[in-house]
Amino acid sequence: MKVPFYRHNIGDEEIAKVVEVLRSPIHTAGPVTQEFEKKLAAYLGCQRAVGVTSWTMGAFLCLRSLGIKPGDEVIIPPLTFLSTANIVCHLGATPVFADVEPDTGLMDVEAARKAITPRTRAIIPVHIYGAMCDMRALKALADQHGLYLLEDAAHCVEGCRDGVRPGQLSEAVCFSFYATKNLSCGDGGGVASQSAKIADHVAKLRFHGMSRGSEERYSGTYRHYDMDEAGYKCNMTDLMAAMLLPQLARIESLLARKEAIARRYEQGIAGSPGVDLFKTPPQTKHARHLFPILAPDGKRDEFLVRLQNKGLGVAVHFNSLHLMKYYRRQYGFKEGDFPHAERLCRRTLSLPFYPRLEEVEIDHVIQSVRETAAELSATHLT
Ligand SMILES: Cc1ncc(COP(=O)(O)O)c(C=O)c1O
Repeated sequence: MKVPFYRHNIGDEEIAKVVEVLRSPIHTAGPVTQEFEKKLAAYLGCQRAVGVTSWTMGAFLCLRSLGIKPGDEVIIPPLTFLSTANIVCHLGATPVFADVEPDTGLMDVEAARKAITPRTRAIIPVHIYGAMCDMRALKALADQHGLYLLEDAAHCVEGCRDGVRPGQLSEAVCFSFYATKNLSCGDGGGVASQSAKIADHVAKLRFHGMSRGSEERYSGTYRHYDMDEAGYKCNMTDLMAAMLLPQLARIESLLARKEAIARRYEQGIAGSPGVDLFKTPPQTKHARHLFPILAPDGKRDEFLVRLQNKGLGVAVHFNSLHLMKYYRRQYGFKEGDFPHAERLCRRTLSLPFYPRLEEVEIDHVIQSVRETAAELSATHLT
């Protein structure tokens, strides 16, 4: 049996909405994008949301809007995707890594505290796999040192911890609507903020820095525009928003299905020799983006190949960012610098995990993990 790593959630409703937009006069950013932004903000309990082309561009614009510049330092965890650090480099600032908690993989608040220097301007906590960092503690730390918080919630639209949702305690939060994410339009992103000033600035920067968006410029009579700052071009379009709106309306039922699959995996995999799971902090509503397991140390790649040979699509989220060639060369990072992240990154692999998984496929995934763990523990004994 083959179980692909990912299947999208696009169905009849999304297709009908895209066709409706295709038949309408506006295909770029227009009323459907605005509707998505309003509904996303309402869902999050945030003042404002802004649609962009990716997490990467949204987060880059947020850092720009916060005034991050060459010489500044931004604290990030090493257990994350490349773009969390790359956007800091794009502004000429320095990414400073702070290790993660050994059992959750989330930013360790004390490690972040120790990484603060007089040049630190911001912290980017990453809500990895869909579990949230301790935003209350991070907010207290940021306030104590006069730092900005920008949340990487590429994996976490639906999450909540200690009564706090993404975007509620930070300057801004960024989401990814990339192909495999819980909400997807192939590629896309969103920024949400309680600050109208930041949201307005990001909205302007995504349209070249222009004083008027395309909808305003082309509706009815021509109106001149001006520009007081050189911006970029990375706005969401109505075609993207058309794919996202029906998924947003179903977001809680899609999550409930993933939660049920996660419970099946947790129970089915429990007791497999040498296999562990990431812990979830208490008082957490997990957004359940990915389902990573921790393979026996030193055997992850062999585990992964054996799962693939049993027909499973698998992936690694992530290899530790500070050990990528660029970051080693640029900043001299080496193995041993961030031991918790390195250990988790050496062991982690992600299983197929999406609402359209069928019951027999879930059984096959569990069976394959159990068998592989048994095979590798037997190899270990001989
Ligand atoms: C933790 C994390 N941050 C940021 C990103 C970047 O998202 P995007 O591809 O929308 O730029 C990803 C993408 O997978 C991610 O996993």
